[in-house]
Amino acid sequence: MHIDIITCLPKLLKGPFSDSILKRAQDKQLVSIDIHDLRDYSANKHRAIDDYAFGGGAGMVMMVEPIDRCISHLKGIRKYDEVIYMSPDGDLLTQSVANHLSLSQNLIMLCGHYKGVDERVREHLITREISIGDYVLSGGELAAAVLSDSIIRLIPGVLSDESSAMTDSFQDGLVAPPVYTRPASYKGWNVPEILLSGHDAKVEKWRHEKAVERTKTRRPGLFQGDE
Ligand code: ADE
Repeated sequence: MHIDIITCLPKLLKGPFSDSILKRAQDKQLVSIDIHDLRDYSANKHRAIDDYAFGGGAGMVMMVEPIDRCISHLKGIRKYDEVIYMSPDGDLLTQSVANHLSLSQNLIMLCGHYKGVDERVREHLITREISIGDYVLSGGELAAAVLSDSIIRLIPGVLSDESSAMTDSFQDGLVAPPVYTRPASYKGWNVPEILLSGHDAKVEKWRHEKAVERTKTRRPGLFQGDE
């Protein structure tokens, strides 16, 4: 998979991709990520990428031209499954959205800033809009990092067997059951006996029951299929 992220704050995106699972995925060549500075596509000598909103009002709007130039340049290199705009009013990111996008070959993620992008970008260049939650971030960069992480960890070979994505919360419509590690007893706080029994089938049954119980109490909407 290849992901191109378009941003006016490229430094913000360096951290999330330079450590742990996302770094290993790139080292293993299971994914490549290019971060593009939108200012490099500005036709303006000051490298401006935003301007005042027509009709007035507070806040700057990201201009259509640099974004179009950048996306056209990328589309000249490869074909994209989706051109995604990170926006608080997009479709909510869920495990099922991540599962679907993890099957893509090439993705563009455009990070918004200020008052957002000129609407013509959304009308003519964007194929999908995604929000990571009902709150407003200062820009789309952190959202693009979250979306990328949720997708990349699902690419076969990225996670080792023991951290397999199949046992993640949400993957089977349930949140994950509680987990414990050594010591079996700490300050009198004991690990449930069943987990020490060595009886795999019973452990599996216990985990499933706990996952169902947790989903019902913590995320009833998920349990009823509403989320
Ligand atoms: N940009 C600003 N807030 C956002 C959000 N919640 N999700 C995606 N992109 C955003």
